[in-house]
Amino acid sequence: MKTARNILTSAAGWAVACLLGLLVQFSLAVSAQENEEDPVGLTEYELACMPCHGLDGKGDGPKARSLATMPADLTQIKARNGGVFPDRAIYDMIDGRGVIPAHGKRDMPLWGDRYRKTGDEGEDPAAVDQRARELIEALVGYIKSIQQN
Ligand code: HEC
Repeated sequence: MKTARNILTSAAGWAVACLLGLLVQFSLAVSAQENEEDPVGLTEYELACMPCHGLDGKGDGPKARSLATMPADLTQIKARNGGVFPDRAIYDMIDGRGVIPAHGKRDMPLWGDRYRKTGDEGEDPAAVDQRARELIEALVGYIKSIQQN
């Protein structure tokens, strides 16, 4: 027959085991979250950028061959820039406003303008602008996450 003490110890044992299990699950969930690519950036990339820059960002999407300029290899930005990912410059490049192409028109669409056109009529311009910024920032984050070397 179990004594009260025995019951208590086994109950405590169970509690500790459950807690440890929870802790392991929690830390697994956290690390999975850290490793996961930003779903907003990834989804937008697949919708808007993949046709030219390719599924893996190498610049060989189905539309690439019809362009005068080859789309850039987006996985080598950091390597080309001496090991530093230039967040700001990439943001400005995607936004496209204020970027004047050196030779004639640029092949890369002006995403900043496009993303700012999606607002409903009468929508607060500040909110439209904020959404466009967040989308471009998510794209910068996604591109940063696919850098090689
Ligand atoms: C119609 C084809 C096309 C689409 C769609 C496109 N790009 Fe581009 N992109 C280009 C081309 C071509 C270049 C090379 C520069 C130029 O001539 O415009 C480029 C250059 C870039 C660069 C500069 C890379 C560097 O090393 O300086 C970035 C960043 C970029 N694209 C991001 C994106 C993102 C993000 C999207 C999706 C929102 C996108 N592109 C969609 C064609 C495209």
